[in-house]
Amino acid sequence: MGLGLKRHQRSSTAPVRGLSPSTAVPPPAGERGPDALRAVRRLRLPTHRATSDVLAGAYPFLAEAGLGNEGVYVGQDAWSGGGFCFDPWELYRQGVLTNPNCLLAGVVGKGKSCLAKSLATRSIAFGRRVYVPGDPKGEWSVVARAVGGAAIQLGGGTPNRLNPLDPGPRPNSLANEQWAQLVQSRRRVLLGCLAESALARPLASVEHTALDAALHEAIAGADVPTLPRVVDALHSPTDAVPGATKEELTRDGRDLAHALRRLVKGDLAGLFDGPSTVTFDPALPMISLDLSQIQGSDQLIAMVMTCTSAWMEAALTDAEGGQRWVIYDEAWRLMRQPALLARMQSQWKLSRGLGIANLLIVHRLSDLDAVGDADSEARALARGLLGDCSTKIVYQQEVSEASRTARELGLTSAERQQLPDLQQGEGLWRVGQRSFVVSHAVTTNELAAFNTDVRMTSLARDRF
Ligand SMILES: Nc1ncnc2c1ncn2[C@@H]1O[C@H](COP(=O)(O)OP(=O)(O)O)[C@@H](O)[C@H]1O
Ligand SMILES: [Mg+2]
Repeated sequence: MGLGLKRHQRSSTAPVRGLSPSTAVPPPAGERGPDALRAVRRLRLPTHRATSDVLAGAYPFLAEAGLGNEGVYVGQDAWSGGGFCFDPWELYRQGVLTNPNCLLAGVVGKGKSCLAKSLATRSIAFGRRVYVPGDPKGEWSVVARAVGGAAIQLGGGTPNRLNPLDPGPRPNSLANEQWAQLVQSRRRVLLGCLAESALARPLASVEHTALDAALHEAIAGADVPTLPRVVDALHSPTDAVPGATKEELTRDGRDLAHALRRLVKGDLAGLFDGPSTVTFDPALPMISLDLSQIQGSDQLIAMVMTCTSAWMEAALTDAEGGQRWVIYDEAWRLMRQPALLARMQSQWKLSRGLGIANLLIVHRLSDLDAVGDADSEARALARGLLGDCSTKIVYQQEVSEASRTARELGLTSAERQQLPDLQQGEGLWRVGQRSFVVSHAVTTNELAAFNTDVRMTSLARDRF
């Protein structure tokens, strides 16, 4: 402005005597030459490149606006210094996320479980519930009890027994007929998954028929069928079915019967071979299934989880159940079982409609490639789960993994360089298309309860 006036005084129109320069009248056609402050050519400025350090000096006080203050407080946004809050349901509602599911990856001991426990327990204050369908280390039990929930422990000499063919909690919204149909199909699917896990292969079509017939027989003989009845019916069917005589059913179901027998008389006897002695109350704020006493292979864990999924699915498919977190800690172990993977995927697909946010915790993204063969269905399912997680949280990664992780998640080179240097409790959050480095803040009481050191947990229970 000041420059304009000075030039103006030098222009052909002389200021009128007695008037101040600011009241001088410009020529009718406007100023000429540079004084016009116009040009026919486009303004071209050379591109300016600078490091983010320099730009931070040139444009101080600028930072990512954050995700707002809705939801649970997670910790400090390392780039802006502000607080970082996260609520997948709210972000989904705002259109920031296309689904509420989250993936959390990082090397051992960097605070993945700790973050998941904070998200879970802090969400309870917002009226959310939390389900942990399989806890191989048993580290969620103390947390579940501390917030007034329940931890169901199976195996290891506990008298707890669970009938996987229980109908499970019934949603209020379902009519009798719908409910009966749902229970029937759930039992059938569950038995199929269980059999596939036990056999470590997909069922042949004749085996499906044998299983159908056996389940039918077990249901006809009791109000609530049990696994021993199904195994008996597989060994010695009482009736023929269309397309198969009794002898054919016996032959076709033989392999199957022996595989399922493992749950009745074999190494898993005493867990699933009678009526349930534990009940699941889906109204509790947190329910976890403690599998730490199940000694053995991942296959056993997968079979136990399949058995317990009946109650979990019954609770999850209740559309009136509100918003819930379903947390798969140490998911890389569970995902090695194709049958379990298929169940996870179907729950994933339902998540938006039912208000469920799944949280999948793995060590590295390549865990997903340890599933099945390169072009197998299981691998595609595992990749599909990753694709269906709009939020990806990456904790420290080994250097060898960093470039791959960056490629998969579309990280910038600056973000990628951070991955091996992230400290305990620090993670790179990729929320939709935006990125944040967040340092998870844990209170002393939380830390005591979340500590994965077993010796600390009894102390934690008293303090939390
Ligand atoms: N944000 C944090 N601040 C302080 N200590 C933490 C934090 N996160 C984790 N820890 C500590 O690290 C330990 C291991 O964390 P954990 O969540 O079990 O790791 P991971 O699940 O990645 O193996 C916890 O017992 C806790 O003491
Ligand atoms: Mg952990």
